[in-house]
Amino acid sequence: MKKEIPIIVMNKICKSFPLAIGGIQQVLFDITFTINPGEFVAIMGPSGSGKSTCMNIVGALDSATSGTYELYGKDITTMTADELAVVRNEYIGFIFQNFNLLPKRTILDNVMLPLMYRGFVMDDRIRRAREMLRLVGLENFETYFPTQLSGGMKQRVAIARALSGEPKLILADEPTGSLDSKMGTEILKFFEKLNKDMGITIIMITHEFEIAQFAKRLIHIYDGRITYDGAVPKSETTLLKSEKRHKK
Ligand SMILES: Nc1ncnc2c1ncn2[C@@H]1O[C@H](COP(=O)(O)OP(=O)(O)OP(=O)(O)O)[C@@H](O)[C@H]1O
Ligand SMILES: [Mg+2]
Repeated sequence: MKKEIPIIVMNKICKSFPLAIGGIQQVLFDITFTINPGEFVAIMGPSGSGKSTCMNIVGALDSATSGTYELYGKDITTMTADELAVVRNEYIGFIFQNFNLLPKRTILDNVMLPLMYRGFVMDDRIRRAREMLRLVGLENFETYFPTQLSGGMKQRVAIARALSGEPKLILADEPTGSLDSKMGTEILKFFEKLNKDMGITIIMITHEFEIAQFAKRLIHIYDGRITYDGAVPKSETTLLKSEKRHKK
């Protein structure tokens, strides 16, 4: 059997930001992991541990300070900005923590956007965007603007947009953070289905252990370091213990 190329190979990724008062703050330390096609991974850790920073690097939206990163077998550190944009549009559906919807565009336009970059003709864009909006229960809101929606609704638009381009990889930062538990569970079950039935690889950031239960693998980040990487444990104690080991 042909060996599948991993989707993501991160090796000793470090990230530092310059501080306003001078000096630098290191946020990620030697982050190393491989993610294969079809995985459903939760990245979990407390607020400020570096999860979003890590996701921005995984999604080629930000670059690492050091370390190597291969996405679909390609060293992305050598790619130009245009090449990176092509890779992002072709493979990745993003769900951002702050939604990142275009405020002056309608809901339908927002969901159609990735399809434009993917070269769909207008009729197909509209049809598919409507299908996605139906999926997240917002079919009656297509002419609304993001400011007219609640946080949970905006999150559902962001999910519809991420799915519209049929990405191979979904990167979701706290995708259910502003949803009530019923809608949250529905979205997570939908992720499970996308992963199981369509083989879409999902990386989902969360700080809640209950949400991580929907994934098959859990990477725990604490203080910018991976302290656990393996099957989702039965109890959160395993993760807290891994933090303690790191603190020593
Ligand atoms: N662009 C930036 N410039 C400077 N510092 C940053 C930047 N982005 C993140 N940081 C810092 O990096 C650290 C980790 O932030 P990050 O957003 O990755 O955390 P997080 O784990 O996603 O937290 P949360 O659960 O609250 O979203 C924080 O101390 C933050 O202040
Ligand atoms: Mg974050």
